[in-house]
Amino acid sequence: MFTARRLLLVEPSITLVITGEALARREAGDDIMILSAGEPDFITPKYIRDYAIEAIERGFTHYTETAGILPLRELIVKKFKEDNGLDYTPSNIIVSTGAKQSIFNVMESILDDNDEVIIPSPYWVSYPEIVHLAGGKPVIVDTEEDGFILTAEKLKKNISNRTKAIILNTPNNPTGMVYYKDTLEELADVIVENDLLCISDEIYEKVLYDGKKHYSIAALGEDIKNNTVVINGFSKSYAMTGWRIGYAAGPEFIIKNCLKLQGHSTSCPSSIGQAAAYAALKNKNEEFDNMLATFDKRRRYIMEKLDQLEGISYIRPEGAFYFFINISNFYGHKGVNDSLSFCNYLLKNGNVAVTPGKAFGMDDYIRISYAVSTAEIERAMEKFKKVLEMLVE
Ligand SMILES: Cc1ncc(COP(=O)(O)O)c(C=O)c1O
Repeated sequence: MFTARRLLLVEPSITLVITGEALARREAGDDIMILSAGEPDFITPKYIRDYAIEAIERGFTHYTETAGILPLRELIVKKFKEDNGLDYTPSNIIVSTGAKQSIFNVMESILDDNDEVIIPSPYWVSYPEIVHLAGGKPVIVDTEEDGFILTAEKLKKNISNRTKAIILNTPNNPTGMVYYKDTLEELADVIVENDLLCISDEIYEKVLYDGKKHYSIAALGEDIKNNTVVINGFSKSYAMTGWRIGYAAGPEFIIKNCLKLQGHSTSCPSSIGQAAAYAALKNKNEEFDNMLATFDKRRRYIMEKLDQLEGISYIRPEGAFYFFINISNFYGHKGVNDSLSFCNYLLKNGNVAVTPGKAFGMDDYIRISYAVSTAEIERAMEKFKKVLEMLVE
């Protein structure tokens, strides 16, 4: 009686089921390795923490402008120019309580009931749920056969007269795939031709390996820029998940609509979080190179270990900090017949927590995060190998 109908469509996070159990067992004294986290294991760099403390002491503790303080938006404008070759003004920018709220704002601003949003699968777990909450209909498009990249052809095939938007995520969570410029150009043509809005989630833009370059689809021409909202934030590149600061950049009328929503929901992002984000962009993040080098070392280590295992397959990640691994060859053994039962088996018998692919729309896979200490990864990979052997013995 007191559950809204639109919430009935929303799934609780499967990720939390596994992580919750893993944490409970760790607290009970078990030696559990948790490779399901979606956040850097590093602490926020010191120059950012120091500036935030100073902001508190100076009394920067009040509501701010709904869109976020102007000096921060000006720095975001500068970032877009320097990193992405994009020209925005502060009125094209809204700072929010994490990129998640930025995506929420945009969906709520653009969708009428049953409007469709194309979501390439595998996808970040919250996209379909955010679309549902905004009254829209997610249209999931499987990209497995195309190497986890949405092609222009597939996009075209899935457009209907109700399609309003498409979500792109590069570098991708959970696959680590990076969209190359030529693919983005082809997608941009289809998006513009069909007058869709592209929501381009670029939150992992700096977490790239093997010399790969990040391209923002919005930078590929004035037409696609007018049909794109770029989403970004501080959580991943600056190890700032708990500060909850993200942002959206796009056409002024969309940002204005987001402002209406934000003004009546959270009023503004946290002043202290904004001060920290300001410091993050104002100075050079000396610690980032180290963080990236550590991620890359772990990524190479895991690849080396995975390559020695039989029966699994994965695509070499080029960005973010995840592996998306096909483990379906192990289904049919010892009660394991989908990604959730696989993860439960791995947790029970190997003390390793990973995320079931079902959370990302692909039940033949699991996601391993390497945003955890190298020592934990090394032990977890040993256990993973043993559990695979156990499953088929
Ligand atoms: C692809 C993707 N987009 C957005 C977010 C949300 O980030 P934030 O912490 O800024 O809300 C995440 C977090 O895991 C993510 O993986």
